[in-house]
Formats: sequence, C-alpha cells, structure tokens
Amino acid sequence: MAEIKACLFDLDGVIVDTAKYHFLAWGRLCKEFGYELSEEENENLKGISRAESLNILLRKAGKEASEAEKQEMMARKNGWYLDHVNAMKPDEILPGVKDFMEALRQKGIRIGLGSASKNALPIVEKIGVLPYLEVVIDGNKVTRGKPDPQTFSLGAEAIGVEPRHCVVFEDAVAGIDAALAGGFFAIGVGKPEILGHAHKVIPGFQDVKLSIFDDLET
Ligand code: BG6
Ligand code: MG
Repeated sequence: MAEIKACLFDLDGVIVDTAKYHFLAWGRLCKEFGYELSEEENENLKGISRAESLNILLRKAGKEASEAEKQEMMARKNGWYLDHVNAMKPDEILPGVKDFMEALRQKGIRIGLGSASKNALPIVEKIGVLPYLEVVIDGNKVTRGKPDPQTFSLGAEAIGVEPRHCVVFEDAVAGIDAALAGGFFAIGVGKPEILGHAHKVIPGFQDVKLSIFDDLET
C-alpha cells in the first residue's frame, strides 16, 4: 500500500463546477466562428490553458488570427466566463469536497491546488477552500501547461513531498496525463470512459473516505 502524504487538486470540474462556465464562454466564441462547440470537443479543452484552447478552436474553425486579435478574443471569453464566476454562490463548491479536505487535514495529509486557470485564486477564496490550501499553483505560475507535469511537480516540490507519495485529483484527460507523466497517483473525477487511464476514477467526492487510498499501488 502506498503511503499518501499529500493531495493536489485540480480546480475547474473537481472542486467546483466552473468547467460548465468555461464551456459556455468558449461556446459563445465558437458561435462567432460559425460553429457549435460540442461536449465531446470541449472534453479536449479541459485542463488546457486559455491560449492553447483558443488555438485549438481557431484551428477547428480554419481561422488565422494575429497575436492582438487572439488577445482580444481571450479577453472577451474571459469576460463572459467571469460574469458566470461573479454570479457564483459559495455553495457551488462540489458536494463532499470540504468534508474530504477536512478528513485529509485531520490525518496530516497536505493539500495543494494545481490548476491551469489564471482565475483560480478568487474562485477558491469565494468558495471557502483557500484556508485548506498549503500551496496554489495556477496558470500564472507555470511555463508549461498540462499534459506537461510542471503544474503538479511545482506543487509537490513546494509542499516537499515526492510524487510517489502524492495523489492528484483531476477531471481532464490532459490533467491525468500530466499526473502520470510526473510519477503521481492519479484519481479521475468524472467518467471511467473518459478518464480510464487514471489509477482509479470516482464520480465525485460525496461519501469519499480516506480508504480510497488503500489500494493504490506503484
Ligand atoms: C482549466 C480549465 O482549469 O483552466 C480550462 O479546465 C481553462 O477549461 C483553463 O481554459 C484556463 O483557465 P482560465 O481561467 O485561466 O481561462
Ligand atoms: Mg479541471
């Protein structure tokens, strides 16, 4: 049985359902490009930085854009996204997350955030998760986005725990890839059909106990 000393949580789609707001905001931009963003295509945008997501959507639309045009599109998308975030209530934290973090804290298992989002801090503050986090690695702190392991490697380093003693919770294919590439245990939060390459997959944190770590083997 692996000894788990720390957990790194992705934010969007794991701690809070902001993934649906990213989807709505990107969808609005895609409408301007002349197509409907599907849930399947959106799956490939999860965990991916804002700039990289835009590049993927522009390629799909067969459109070229200058750097200035891209900045303008990203600012607009982010404005739409923040309209949703600002209207969010603190109780939008996903069920079971706080209880699970409380259980980790009581066992002395350290907690950090590893998110691609540049909006992560105000969101974790709003939903009352910030006091649980020893470290926040967000989109402002990384030079290489997921599926590169940098986000989680920086988190583990800051906490001072080796990846083999650390579990990453992720809802994105790119995030599971990042965790595995960095030598972490990866627990998918979502559907096994999509996240089946993780060490295990849970639908969410409701009723999840620390015994979830019991069968993690290297
Ligand atoms: C990730 C989301 O957490 O953050 C992506 O899964 C999003 O959908 C990315 O594009 C960047 O977020 P932001 O808030 O910096 O635009
Ligand atoms: Mg996510």
